[in-house]
Amino acid sequence: TDAATPGSAPKVKTLPDAQTVTQVTHWTDTLFSFRCTRPQSLRFRSGEFVMIGLMGDNGKPLLRAYSIASPSWDDELEFYSIKVPDGPLTSKLQHIEVGQEIILRPKPVGTLVHDALLPGKRVWFLATGTGIAPFASLMRDPETYEKFEQVIMMHTCRTVAELEYGRKLVEDLRDDPLIGEMVEGKLRYYPTTTREDFHHTGRITDNLSSGKVFADLDLPRMNADEDRAMVCGSLAFNLDVKEVLEGFGLREGANSEPREYVVEKAFVGDGV
Ligand code: FAD
Ligand code: A2P
Repeated sequence: TDAATPGSAPKVKTLPDAQTVTQVTHWTDTLFSFRCTRPQSLRFRSGEFVMIGLMGDNGKPLLRAYSIASPSWDDELEFYSIKVPDGPLTSKLQHIEVGQEIILRPKPVGTLVHDALLPGKRVWFLATGTGIAPFASLMRDPETYEKFEQVIMMHTCRTVAELEYGRKLVEDLRDDPLIGEMVEGKLRYYPTTTREDFHHTGRITDNLSSGKVFADLDLPRMNADEDRAMVCGSLAFNLDVKEVLEGFGLREGANSEPREYVVEKAFVGDGV
């Protein structure tokens, strides 16, 4: 416990595993990101997720899985979140402000990690919606550029506004003093929309199957010798992408058995 300094209020953490929010950004009426303090002892691999939340009305922690969107070298943690209007957690979490606390259980896990992929020439990050969060971490991790000659970030949302978090992240990355130089010429960003006009449109599955993305980026057709992939989206998206990737000859890997691609759900429950 913190001792009170005479004349000042004692700094008491009110929640178990509490971390303090340092920044909040609202991107749309359904999307926001926030940063918080990082427990000194927390070690994680870029791409992993943790359980975070708030104290529920019943006095018990209300926790949900969240991908860590910041890279493992960052002093703080970043999260990118949906706002579900009647969602038990996000109906409250969306109102969080700087200085307030969240609960963070410091036990990172997940399959979207470099250890689960065999070495290759190119890595494809395939995401819909908030599924870009683990790649926000991996795109900022030097290991990604040490391991692969080319990194292709495909992100698809219904509207242009929903792409903004990822767009800004990629833009800022190019000017980043720490890894800007590593990223230069290696990171290819391929955002598309499906329900609004944009310079590139269409589902990731369709742009891969038709070969459009390979033509647009002047890359060879995806193949098991050179290409690796990490996938994060709704269950329906993940299932459809898996089929496409298997069609190119890639096989699903895991921490215990690295192969050509890995998959993680961006959230549970979407009517499949
Ligand atoms: P819930 O009761 O959890 O969800 C209500 C409904 O909202 C769900 O049935 C689903 O239809 C929909 N929904 C939930 N999450 C999303 C989403 N992200 N995108 C679209 N629809 C959704 N959420 C994030 O916002 N950012 C993350 O980085 C993130 N990482 C996750 C990682 C894993 C491994 C898993 C399993 C889930 C992750 N989620 C993430 C989802 C998150 O755990 C919660 O479901 C979300 O915060 C909503 O919580 P809730 O209590 O408000 O509503
Ligand atoms: P679409 O607009 O054609 O459904 P959502 O907001 O429903 O979670 O979807 C996020 C993005 O993922 C949308 O652009 C959506 O395209 C796309 N998407 C949803 N389901 C699939 C799927 N099974 N395969 C490929 N893309 C999908």
